[in-house]
Amino acid sequence: MTQTEPFDPRAFHAQFEIAMIVACSKNGVIGRDGDLPWHLPEDLRHFMRSTKGCPVIMGRKTFDSLDKPLPNRLNIVISRSMPDPGHEGVQIARDLDSALEQARQATAGGLDRPIWIAGGGTIYTQAMDRADLIVRTLIDLEVDGDARFPEIDHSEWALRRSEPHTADDRHASPFCFEWWERA
Ligand SMILES: NC(=O)c1ccc[n+]([C@@H]2O[C@H](COP(=O)([O-])OP(=O)(O)OC[C@H]3O[C@@H](n4cnc5c(N)ncnc54)[C@H](OP(=O)(O)O)[C@@H]3O)[C@@H](O)[C@H]2O)c1
Repeated sequence: MTQTEPFDPRAFHAQFEIAMIVACSKNGVIGRDGDLPWHLPEDLRHFMRSTKGCPVIMGRKTFDSLDKPLPNRLNIVISRSMPDPGHEGVQIARDLDSALEQARQATAGGLDRPIWIAGGGTIYTQAMDRADLIVRTLIDLEVDGDARFPEIDHSEWALRRSEPHTADDRHASPFCFEWWERA
């Protein structure tokens, strides 16, 4: 894929089985005090467009940080302690393997590909060896935080595409959408 070829993100993503999607600062921070340390509406749109219709796996703390379950997609929440909330569109898994198995059944049953891993830090770390695509928003910012994304090992991952965005009146920092494929 070259930077100048037409790019259909949903079609590209569907080639992969397991993808991680993350926004992180230059120093690897993804969260602080159970929330995001920035407000970037275009990144939220990118997340929602990318994951719509697909299974989305997340840790319990990330699920707790949402106002409500992500709509129009299956939310699979990994937790040792959380009871089944009984919401349509939310399933609990007791570990990453069970979450992936539930997501595979959902894609076999008609949900879109890929299976998305949507954080937080503990889940990204456990899923790093399982994913074959990373969709990362790199924010041109250094911030303090208590949740992080693991370092991308450049001997294992190749940057296939990047789309830089400048700061504007709605986005305080420049950011770049990146697509990393397992090399
Ligand atoms: N910037 C981004 O793209 C992004 C994306 C997602 C989240 N975030 C941020 O990241 C932060 C949350 O991340 P976090 O690392 O603190 O928490 P997390 O990964 O979202 O959730 C941790 C919880 O997941 C459960 N868990 C993890 N591994 C498990 C396993 N192997 N088996 C069973 N349960 C397991 C446990 O839940 P129980 O305690 O219930 O057992 C654990 O306490 C928040 O600030 C959030 O806003 C940022």
